[in-house]
Amino acid sequence: MRVRTAVIPVAGLGTRFLPATKSVPKEMLPVLDRPCVDYIVREAADAGIERIIFVTARGKDAMVDYFDSSPALEAHLKEHEKFDLLEKVVEAGRRVDVITIRQRKALGLGHAILTAKPIVGDEPFAILLGDDIVFAEKPVIGEMIKVFEKQQEAVVAIMEVPNEHTQRYGICAGKWENKQEMRVKQMVEKPHPKVAPSNFGIVGRYVVPAEIFALLEDTPPGKGGEIQLTDALHMLARMNKVVGFKFEGKRVDTGNALGLLHASMYQAFHRPDMRDAFLELLKEFQLPPTPVKQKSADK
Ligand code: G1P
Repeated sequence: MRVRTAVIPVAGLGTRFLPATKSVPKEMLPVLDRPCVDYIVREAADAGIERIIFVTARGKDAMVDYFDSSPALEAHLKEHEKFDLLEKVVEAGRRVDVITIRQRKALGLGHAILTAKPIVGDEPFAILLGDDIVFAEKPVIGEMIKVFEKQQEAVVAIMEVPNEHTQRYGICAGKWENKQEMRVKQMVEKPHPKVAPSNFGIVGRYVVPAEIFALLEDTPPGKGGEIQLTDALHMLARMNKVVGFKFEGKRVDTGNALGLLHASMYQAFHRPDMRDAFLELLKEFQLPPTPVKQKSADK
């Protein structure tokens, strides 16, 4: 079955970005000149996704408005013949249909996905987590959809992480079938390095069959007392139905302030219209040379 839907959970409070997120959804914080969530939606649209389901919460209306049309603004830009800006403004919501549903309780990522069940229905779907931006030549979720469509098995994006960081990720262990695909046997949410079954961490991209909903309904609270997507996927892995996909691209964790800055810098460096000015700006931050100690005779 073709994958045409993506679920993007965006209900988090964004406490790591307080006080900014007191009144602005964290998904709207900019990476250079576009909101974070725009990168995620573009990746999905580039992969052929036609409808996006945002699992939202109170306080996220600014984000939903971003993907809506804005008649007054559009009329103003037209009147002033600012057609390049007009194009940027209308492009955001043009490529995909956006549907929202609210997660009324913060019971974890697994619960957020389950919230989308009445809209997704009985078809496979992609999941993209907003905190992971992946800069890649080909959209990672698109590459994963290709694997899914070939094998009709869940596909999870993975990357090697330092051993001491296993507690930050869902960890996958299994057997490599080729250079890029692991037959996943075990999945554990954020294990201590001492008990982690490998150092391949899950990055926030998944393609899953609708079967995941029934598994999520049977998943008890796990790590942190939350219903974990990793735990439901582990049940699928036990049935030999999960592929770990080692993607190509640069992943940046925009879930914290420095990560967000990193993503902006990465963009500025790779954008031809900004690169030179950005490199010039960086000179300001070059460390001064270590002062040479003066010999007493020089005094
Ligand atoms: C979530 C998942 C985790 C995954 C991570 C990737 O955790 O639960 O398995 O490795 O996203 O970003 P979070 O970072 O939301 O706590």
